[in-house]
Amino acid sequence: MTVRIAPSVLASDFARLADEVARVEAGGADFIHVDVMDGHFVPNITVGVPVVAALRRVTSLPLDVHLMIANPDRYLEAFAGAGASILTVHAEAATHLHRTVTRIRQLGMQAGVAINPATPVECVRDVANEIDLLLVMSVNPGFGGQSFIPRSIEKVAAAKALLHLGGRPVEIEVDGGVDCTNAARLVRAGATILVAGVSVFGTPDPAAATRALREAALAS
Ligand code: DX5
Ligand code: ZN
Repeated sequence: MTVRIAPSVLASDFARLADEVARVEAGGADFIHVDVMDGHFVPNITVGVPVVAALRRVTSLPLDVHLMIANPDRYLEAFAGAGASILTVHAEAATHLHRTVTRIRQLGMQAGVAINPATPVECVRDVANEIDLLLVMSVNPGFGGQSFIPRSIEKVAAAKALLHLGGRPVEIEVDGGVDCTNAARLVRAGATILVAGVSVFGTPDPAAATRALREAALAS
């Protein structure tokens, strides 16, 4: 079994972003997860294109950019230009989801679709062949440090069953309240990428926390 770890810099010290990224890189992180929020789709405002471009200059890890914004189509080119590796849009925010994910891939990025806790996995059935990743939100998006919603484990299993039908690999990423207490259950259910904010950057040693999360995730 394998799993990849994507620390979310939302919980890091933004004044020392390059150092924070270097720490999790030293701990074996596989991606850097960047949460983009617009104050419309979610009630919080975070960072945008310039911060993604700045991160691109200080790490060689792939940038996993999670757009929690209305009208994501307006910004696809800009995030491609900034160096996003994976660009994930919310199914609830994309009116023409097939067009959006197709465009993300045309721009040379991997395409992800995120679904809120109340959105069924079935909503990606008809774009399953055009996506590289399904992001199952295990909290309501908008803030770090929220409690994990236990039902998300069954949802990951449902996502795995649905995507398996398509016969091609699609990553299943889980985001929100992920820590050493739920990581193994998520991986057993089918999660392949774990996002972690507070459980990594909220600790005194983010490198050790990254390693510990991977070990916990792979424990049987
Ligand atoms: C929440 C964001 C998450 C957040 C996770 O809306 O999408 O990526 O940073 O933070 P934790 O792991 O602290 O719940
Ligand atoms: Zn996120």
